[in-house]
Amino acid sequence: MSSPPPNPVVAPPHVLTLLDRLHAESSAQEAALGTYLGAPEGFDELMRDKFIALDQDKCQFVYQLARATGARNVVEVGTSFGVSTMYLALAVGSNIEASAGQGVVIGTEKEATKAERARRYWEEAGEELVTRRIDLREGDLLETLKEDVPTLDLVLIDIWAPVALPALKLLEPRMRPGTVVILDNSISSASRYAALLSHLRSPANGYTNLTLPYSKGLEMSIKF
Ligand SMILES: C[S@@+](CC[C@H](N)C(=O)[O-])C[C@H]1O[C@@H](n2cnc3c(N)ncnc32)[C@H](O)[C@@H]1O
Repeated sequence: MSSPPPNPVVAPPHVLTLLDRLHAESSAQEAALGTYLGAPEGFDELMRDKFIALDQDKCQFVYQLARATGARNVVEVGTSFGVSTMYLALAVGSNIEASAGQGVVIGTEKEATKAERARRYWEEAGEELVTRRIDLREGDLLETLKEDVPTLDLVLIDIWAPVALPALKLLEPRMRPGTVVILDNSISSASRYAALLSHLRSPANGYTNLTLPYSKGLEMSIKF
């Protein structure tokens, strides 16, 4: 019998169990959802009670990457019920402890009910380990990210496609040489993210890019 794949996430059992549970709920919802073919104006309504969390293997990769790079200041473009946010908070927390520094995960969510539920899950994980690491900005991120963003180590983009490029451009002045930008679904949604991918891949904009072969693709770009 083969052993389960390794999980890089260092956290107490109740947090790992919570993450497993939330990923299972998210996957079940997505399986039931299929592909949305309705009108754009119905999309937010449909998604209001959906996780659409970043896949668990991708979350573990982002966690491992954040640990490897010692990331302390992170923006998550799209928080929903806060699943990937927890991985980022755990990684930043460990990085801070290792270097006795400061750091924050800035989350972004425009739906008040989703933000409220994210906060509940973070409390379930724990104030010490998760909640206190997160600065959740409620409202349209194109407004909430205009100010008070520190120099960024990592940006996770997991958001409706039309917001992706404006969000990146808003954050670019806060990037340093070596800031990592992760974009979900860069293969399956390449046409929807065409403007963002074109920006990232245009040499004039100073990124190096790699498409990681996770399901539906995961773009890893570094700003230089
Ligand atoms: C794919 S989900 C994020 C999933 C999350 N990263 C996770 O792994 O659990 C994208 C979220 O972005 C939110 N969103 C969409 N447009 C937004 C905007 N302009 N400002 C803030 N949040 C937005 C949606 O309400 C949705 O909950």
